[in-house]
Amino acid sequence: MEDARAAREPGTRLWHPFADMAAVSTVGEMVIDRGEGAYVVDEQGRRYLDASAGLWYCNVGHGREALADAAAAQMRRLASYSAFGDLATRPALDLAERLAAMAPLHDARVFLTSGGSDSVDTAVKLVRRYWAELGQSERTVIVTREHAYHGMHLAGTSLAGIEANRAGHGDLDPAVVQVPWDDADALESLLSSRSDIAAFFCEPIIGAGGVYAPPGDYLARVRETCRSHGVLFVADEVISGYGRAGAMFASERWALDPDVMLTAKGITSGYIPLGAVIVAGRVAEPFWTPGAVPVMWRHGYTYSAHATACAVALANLDIVEEESLVARVDRLQHQLAAALLPLAAYDVVSEVRAGVGLLAAVDYSTEAKSTGVPARVLAGLRERGVLTRNLASGALQVSPPFVIDDADIDLLGRAIADALVAAGATKARASSSGLLPDITSDEGVDAYDDRHYLEQRPPHHG
Ligand SMILES: Cc1ncc(COP(=O)(O)O)c(C=O)c1O
Repeated sequence: MEDARAAREPGTRLWHPFADMAAVSTVGEMVIDRGEGAYVVDEQGRRYLDASAGLWYCNVGHGREALADAAAAQMRRLASYSAFGDLATRPALDLAERLAAMAPLHDARVFLTSGGSDSVDTAVKLVRRYWAELGQSERTVIVTREHAYHGMHLAGTSLAGIEANRAGHGDLDPAVVQVPWDDADALESLLSSRSDIAAFFCEPIIGAGGVYAPPGDYLARVRETCRSHGVLFVADEVISGYGRAGAMFASERWALDPDVMLTAKGITSGYIPLGAVIVAGRVAEPFWTPGAVPVMWRHGYTYSAHATACAVALANLDIVEEESLVARVDRLQHQLAAALLPLAAYDVVSEVRAGVGLLAAVDYSTEAKSTGVPARVLAGLRERGVLTRNLASGALQVSPPFVIDDADIDLLGRAIADALVAAGATKARASSSGLLPDITSDEGVDAYDDRHYLEQRPPHHG
């Protein structure tokens, strides 16, 4: 007898990632058709300001012909070939050289993957194998942070500091310990108390977990703690890499000197999937010393060092450099903060986190979250021609392409304000501008960072 539920028309055959398919298959999909600069257009011809850069990746903006041309030229010549063993393609070699030269790691080596989750998985295996090669195979434990997002492979799911992303998948990797996101003392006491820790994984700015910039001297302290305990420091720059944090890498902005740095997204601005694990020479050494690692490190992906992806990455980095887009982010971060911070005056808003790079979040009060405000604001934004999404915590993600201009940043701030009001918000507090430093200057942003994250940061469980 046929199962009645299975026989029901599904509405769509596309199983969407991170989706409530019961809802999507009933309500329908929003089909994005094309894009140009900071805008995308749906199949009905409606134009939207892309306030999230896709999933934090479209740094150089949509519709770049140079990237399409780079892909087409490479595909016509050789779409890709294996990079296993001694094989290589020219774009892969050129990209590795370029990344090693630009990354803030000494004597870097570059392991290419197909995205951020691959990069996380590679790094977890790499650090454990590193310690095994050094004769310390008891060092297997990975330390991760509350709010952390390290992708969706099983390793990254095990490292997740967003509880909802871990739940319901059976037993995850038990060799993982979580610490509070903002407490350097907690890491210090953990590392002092055990000798089985391989690495500390850290997003310099927490992204999908809610957009939390590092408070005060947090990063300097945890970096030093790892160094003094001989624990590897892995900077997950899948979001922050290639300019989004207002420097080419957040590790540069905060002088982290990571042992391993994970990147993806902005490496190609999302035009084609690619990730890069950039490894300091000191960590690569056991793998590169004759006879050190028996036979070979049996790790890699079919599309590691994919030639077309590497060609697109090179062309993308050309654009980032030629158009000085990192300097542009450095300037626009002040504009974005100026446009968003006044939203903290609305009663439903608990906090606006902005000021570091083109990365921000508008967070809501617990009551607003329990009464559906985030979803209503999001819908209101779509009606007003702004496309973004709510993070797992309910906060609104704001991470536009680097090519967004001042006028569109202002428009974004106004659209969010209008959508808040349409969702029932009122201005409960006096305008916050008098309480905040002048965030249109560098000094002001730094002062804002400190005050904001030291005085207004949410509690650990927040
Ligand atoms: C910090 C971080 N690490 C890893 C990942 C996983 O990357 P991907 O989705 O490309 O697998 C993400 C994705 O958003 C991320 O933000």
